[in-house]
Amino acid sequence: MSGEKRVAVLISGRGSNLEALIEAARAPDYPARIVLVLSNNPDAEGLDKAAAAGIETAVVDHRPFGKDRAAHERLIDARLRQSGVELVALAGYMRILTPFLVEAWAGRMVNIHPSLLPAFTGTDTHRRALDAGVKLHGCSVHMVTLGVDEGPIVGQAAVPVLEGDDAAALADRVLAAEHRLYPACLARLAAGSAGVQPAADAVLANPA
Ligand code: GRF
Repeated sequence: MSGEKRVAVLISGRGSNLEALIEAARAPDYPARIVLVLSNNPDAEGLDKAAAAGIETAVVDHRPFGKDRAAHERLIDARLRQSGVELVALAGYMRILTPFLVEAWAGRMVNIHPSLLPAFTGTDTHRRALDAGVKLHGCSVHMVTLGVDEGPIVGQAAVPVLEGDDAAALADRVLAAEHRLYPACLARLAAGSAGVQPAADAVLANPA
């Protein structure tokens, strides 16, 4: 039996981090296999990228559930279990999770966030980093816990903020770092035992 961990990637849009994970997982010695790409948004571009790579896709649209977020998540959870998923990677999944899904996958769900946490949780991180005048910005992969963007940090990558940067230029630089960081962190988690909280030491994926 293969020792690869079975991973689901949850997306809502473009899916560039998904692509980076797909690419990394092609390596024969990569310890994880993406067995499912699931989106709440039927129009997510990332779904086409997954299908083109021969990966099973699923759409669990949140709209029919209205305010009943947990009901939406129960369906997601069932779909993950149906595919025998062991680890869940959020990659641009734009729904705030309820305690139901967070607790169901505690210690087995990670997210990538476009800032050096704990700075700049939430949205619009690049604009806020520029406004704050920081000279280093970056991205973090963290375990998903009940507090949004608050879980233990698995790894971080830093990028410089350069003279003349606007939010778009900074976002591009951070995104390139995300694409290195996420596969490295997922590999580390997959190589450990699922269900066990990983050590929160840093993986520095040098974007240069
Ligand atoms: C990334 O910046 C990620 O950090 C954030 O959402 C964005 C998703 O981009 N959580 P993509 O869909 O992976 O291209």
